[in-house]
Amino acid sequence: MEVRPPLTLSSFILFEERRRARAAGEKGDFCALLASIQSACKIISRAVHRAGVDELHGALEHVNIQGEVVKRLDVLSNDTLIHFLCNSGQLCVATSEETEDIIRPPDYLTGEFVVTFDPLDGSSNIDAGVNVGTIFGIYRRISDSGPDGRQPGNIQDALQPPKNLIAAGYTMYGASTILVLATEQGVNGFTLDTGIGEFIMTHPEIKLPTRGKTYSINEGNSASWDKSTTEFIAYCKSEDESKKCYSLRYIGTMVGDVHRTLCYGGIFMYPADARAKNGKLRLLYECGPMGYIVEKAGGRATTGKMQIRDIQPVELHERAPIFLGSKLDVEQVEAIYAKNS
Ligand code: AHG
Ligand code: MN
Ligand code: MN
Ligand code: MN
Repeated sequence: MEVRPPLTLSSFILFEERRRARAAGEKGDFCALLASIQSACKIISRAVHRAGVDELHGALEHVNIQGEVVKRLDVLSNDTLIHFLCNSGQLCVATSEETEDIIRPPDYLTGEFVVTFDPLDGSSNIDAGVNVGTIFGIYRRISDSGPDGRQPGNIQDALQPPKNLIAAGYTMYGASTILVLATEQGVNGFTLDTGIGEFIMTHPEIKLPTRGKTYSINEGNSASWDKSTTEFIAYCKSEDESKKCYSLRYIGTMVGDVHRTLCYGGIFMYPADARAKNGKLRLLYECGPMGYIVEKAGGRATTGKMQIRDIQPVELHERAPIFLGSKLDVEQVEAIYAKNS
């Protein structure tokens, strides 16, 4: 019997992606960038799983640019990702939920790629031991890298629409640590084997069912929803001979709610409402990367009125309404918004 060693994320990145990048004549080392993100996620995973033991729960005294109380693990995760990205030699600029301005490595370490990231998503859940995650998106720089390729980047490199993404992914820290990576070739999931410290491919070629059976939204906001959201949620709850009512699933960590949607189908929503005209989730490091991943898995991502991929960001931390998941469910939301416009 042929014994095939498990396909690890490291080998996947090195062989699959390096061959593609060389064939495409791409500049920069995409594999080295992905390897730096993988290393950072392994360290964050260990910190999240040891948070109670190592007294890493709880909040610090200050609030971030979002106006949110900052948790100890927000800072640890942010610092870890900044360290690995800046030292990879592949980063032009980065944007983080936890950092007000763009992040640049020392000039001699400037590279070809732009990374947007949410270092710890769902941090309000961390002290209760509920799943949290890291979200990242990868672009190519658009500013000139100069004769030596080390020309520092600028904010325009960071303010790119999600349709320019060349890869995106998330790591979910839960009962197991799962890294899902989407590239132009498709979406694959890897589970961390802590015994050997490697992510092993466990979810090859993830594809979203075209219609789901669950809807995911914070029902506590229903009094503020607009007419179209209210109409679509009523459809989810309706039942007749042709359709059973959907089940509500919501854990309040985008990575967890999106991962379940990616695995089983359904629709995740954080719409605009009377109190938040652009919803809550941030375009560059939550809606954009998650929309890219879902699209590469055959799904769809919209604000209700336009596709997430087409939004041209104006500010680093701007927010966007989002409905993402199974294609037919999301198209139904878009049809309701079109009817009510
Ligand atoms: P973060 O912890 O990175 O600030 O993100 C929290 C987000 C997202 O993870 C989740 O979908 C949403 O907040 C939940 O918001 P509500 O608690 O308002 O439902
Ligand atoms: Mn936050
Ligand atoms: Mn988040
Ligand atoms: Mn966060």
